[in-house]
Amino acid sequence: MSSSSGPIAVVTGGAGFIGSHLTDRLIELGHRVVVLDDFRTGKRANLARWLTPEHGFGGASPALELVTCDVSHGIFAALAPITAKYGRVERIAHLAAQVSVVSSVANPLVDMSVNYGGTLHVLEYARAMGVAKVAFASSAAVYGDVSEMPVGEDTPTRPVSPYGIDKLASELALDYYANVHGVPATALRFFNVYGPRQDPSSPYSGVISIFADRARAGRTLTIFGDGQQTRDFVYVGDVVRGLVAALGDGNSRTVANVGTGGEITVTELARTLVELCGGKSAIEYAPQRAGEILRSRARVDRLREAFGVVAETRLVDGLRATIA
Ligand code: NAD
Ligand code: UD1
Repeated sequence: MSSSSGPIAVVTGGAGFIGSHLTDRLIELGHRVVVLDDFRTGKRANLARWLTPEHGFGGASPALELVTCDVSHGIFAALAPITAKYGRVERIAHLAAQVSVVSSVANPLVDMSVNYGGTLHVLEYARAMGVAKVAFASSAAVYGDVSEMPVGEDTPTRPVSPYGIDKLASELALDYYANVHGVPATALRFFNVYGPRQDPSSPYSGVISIFADRARAGRTLTIFGDGQQTRDFVYVGDVVRGLVAALGDGNSRTVANVGTGGEITVTELARTLVELCGGKSAIEYAPQRAGEILRSRARVDRLREAFGVVAETRLVDGLRATIA
């Protein structure tokens, strides 16, 4: 990839949880990064490291540009002033999305428009502008309920939520643009990502951010369903290493899981977090949520073989970093 004086990397959703960590890493590696975000869940504070006080968090250090834009509407016009100033966009990490499975069940049309429509806008831009690589944040939700664990990339995809359907449709679009229009593109299927900056403020936020927030305050943790459902929780730093590798040349049309290869039940997770936070919180149970998958655990051979990435952060270490 290029240096900060050369062509640019766009991170859609770069003000969000995962996107801001990716932005940090790309700038550390010497890239000029354009964060394209409409700040519906993302925050300028996540990028504070690169925003100077005199900019009042509205501008950016030379390595970072902020473009406020809905990814499913008008990205050509929004990026035009940037490319006029710095030259063409070389790489795009496409992370902007509506991220809640539950919200997608309640509002499938919003999910389709942002999560599938947004991907089409990015791919149209990449085709027209000759972008060298698109890396897409897909999800384990494309698999749906699978009985055999761990789940490999060749497992038939049967999503059980609009969110999973739109991520899968996006992957198919990536494949189409690679085949028919020669746009180099890679999809990474993230399992359950956690770490610092994951926003706990919505009831639909990632479970670790909610549980950590409540356990720290000694409040009750609510488990939906019987708590025996499992997830493969992967630390955000490990996910960023996967994304940086996917943004490099090669591996076009590759789809790879990003997980640890392990799984933990939601009940075990809740108990661990309560214990790490001093044991003051109670745990209660509520009805299972719609669109839920019951087990989730990644096969991770392809991530290692194609991208040289192994998710190495142990859950307890990642949970400590998150709580801190
Ligand atoms: P997040 O909500 O913190 O980040 C999403 C970002 O996208 C936010 O900054 C938000 O403002 C922005 N955004 C949303 N809609 C937009 C739009 N229409 N136009 C422009 N910007 C928009 O969530 P995250 O956890 O960082 O998720 C990042 C990506 O990773 C998403 O594509 C998500 O589907 C995917 N993913 C996340 C997980 C996880 O466990 N967190 C797992 C699998 C996949
Ligand atoms: C998460 C991501 C989704 C991603 C998918 C990949 C979020 C908000 N969702 O979905 O973007 O594509 O992983 O696998 O980041 N739970 C409780 N109590 C709570 C909150 C949640 O018991 O207060 C349970 C849920 O019912 C679920 C599990 O914890 O069984 C995980 O939930 P959640 O963090 O919302 O993630 P997913 O639905 O797996």
